[in-house]
Amino acid sequence: MQSVGRRLGYQYIRHSAAPISSFKSAYSLPDQYYGADNPRWASTLATKGVGHLVRKGTGGRSSVSGIIATVFGATGFLGRYLVQQLAKMGSQVLVPFRGSEDSHRHLKLMGDLGQIVPMKYDPRDEDSIKAVMAKANVVINLIGRDYETRNYSFEEVNHHMAEQLAVIAKEHGGIMRYIQVSCLGASPSSPSKLLRTKAAAEEAILRELPEATVVRPAVMIGTEDRILNPWAHFAKKYSFIPLMGDGSTKIQPVYVVDVASAIIAALKDDGSSMGKVYELGGPDIYTMHQLAELMFETIREYPHYVKIPFPIAKAISTPRELLLKKVPFPLPVPTIFNLDLIESLSTDTVVSENALTFEDLGIAPRKLKGYPVEFLIQYRKGGPNYGSTVSEKISPKWS
Ligand SMILES: NC(=O)c1ccc[n+]([C@@H]2O[C@H](COP(=O)([O-])OP(=O)(O)OC[C@H]3O[C@@H](n4cnc5c(N)ncnc54)[C@H](OP(=O)(O)O)[C@@H]3O)[C@@H](O)[C@H]2O)c1
Repeated sequence: MQSVGRRLGYQYIRHSAAPISSFKSAYSLPDQYYGADNPRWASTLATKGVGHLVRKGTGGRSSVSGIIATVFGATGFLGRYLVQQLAKMGSQVLVPFRGSEDSHRHLKLMGDLGQIVPMKYDPRDEDSIKAVMAKANVVINLIGRDYETRNYSFEEVNHHMAEQLAVIAKEHGGIMRYIQVSCLGASPSSPSKLLRTKAAAEEAILRELPEATVVRPAVMIGTEDRILNPWAHFAKKYSFIPLMGDGSTKIQPVYVVDVASAIIAALKDDGSSMGKVYELGGPDIYTMHQLAELMFETIREYPHYVKIPFPIAKAISTPRELLLKKVPFPLPVPTIFNLDLIESLSTDTVVSENALTFEDLGIAPRKLKGYPVEFLIQYRKGGPNYGSTVSEKISPKWS
């Protein structure tokens, strides 16, 4: 049977074949550099057996990667960087949102027209979850909250919702990759309720979908982070920051963009990350005190601390938790004095020895000092050029 091109009298096959083959022989590129085998392709998701999986283009923003991802929690901190990376490689991203139309507006520009699809849903309505997952072949769950509210407990947000998404994804039948974002330190024996519920979620997801991938990021650092920003804000206002305990708790903060890259790397692999748990910590371990020093150095303020023993820090932050469901109005969102955060800071949280890490996903995480913390410049009291660094303070006559 003649091809459509031949029937229409087109000569494009012959015309295009010659330059490509001569180009290939001239530069001796292997066959997989062409078509769907091009290494720029976004993923190795199977192209057979799924009607809507079509790949086109060369692998960039205007291509079609074949990935149609529903990203739950895309309106949050990590979501912004993950959606950007998914869109950049030509994936379609379905963004379930529950709040105002503004919550996803910043994401729309990250992809071509029609590539980022916001869809209103209700996390407590199973049918609406099914609707936002219906067209997807990948599900990524970033939903999480680091404090409880009047409406939602840790148990519901971090555990039950995650479990429900996994059950629906299993019923769906066409979800080829499921990625759950948990937390470093998630364990049933953790002093933090959040980390206990995250551990319960991991267990439930791997029970429903043994081929799911779980990533456990450490504290994430970046422009919208919830550790350096509150500290810098507090320091600018009061010229000191409260440090829980003696500031010696060890953490392994990670640049948020690296966590997004790790999720993309897991999606792009040949399926080797399926059914595995990755612990994503940055290249350096910091004590809380050292991290605070980095913050003070970047905002160019003299470091002042008030060390608050754990029992006192807990006493300060407990009333919110006690009153949360007893008063008829919402209470302020806890930032530094978050009881659960204080509980989790009572133990070190670093990547465990035998864990799978960034390295196993082919990624070298960036050091925090430098670009990842540059956003803190906005907190310099006298504008970006305010103050001086240690090296500038040393007079040239000494060097
Ligand atoms: N930030 C960190 O340092 C850190 C460290 C380790 C692990 N993690 C985990 O990584 C994931 C992403 O973190 P993130 O910092 O991007 O979180 P985030 O900025 O707080 O965003 C959380 C997302 O979850 C959604 N969400 C929260 N409560 C919800 C509820 N009751 N119903 C439906 N959606 C809800 C939010 O939607 P709305 O916009 O509608 O509120 C938002 O899209 C979370 O699972 C978090 O636990 C974060």
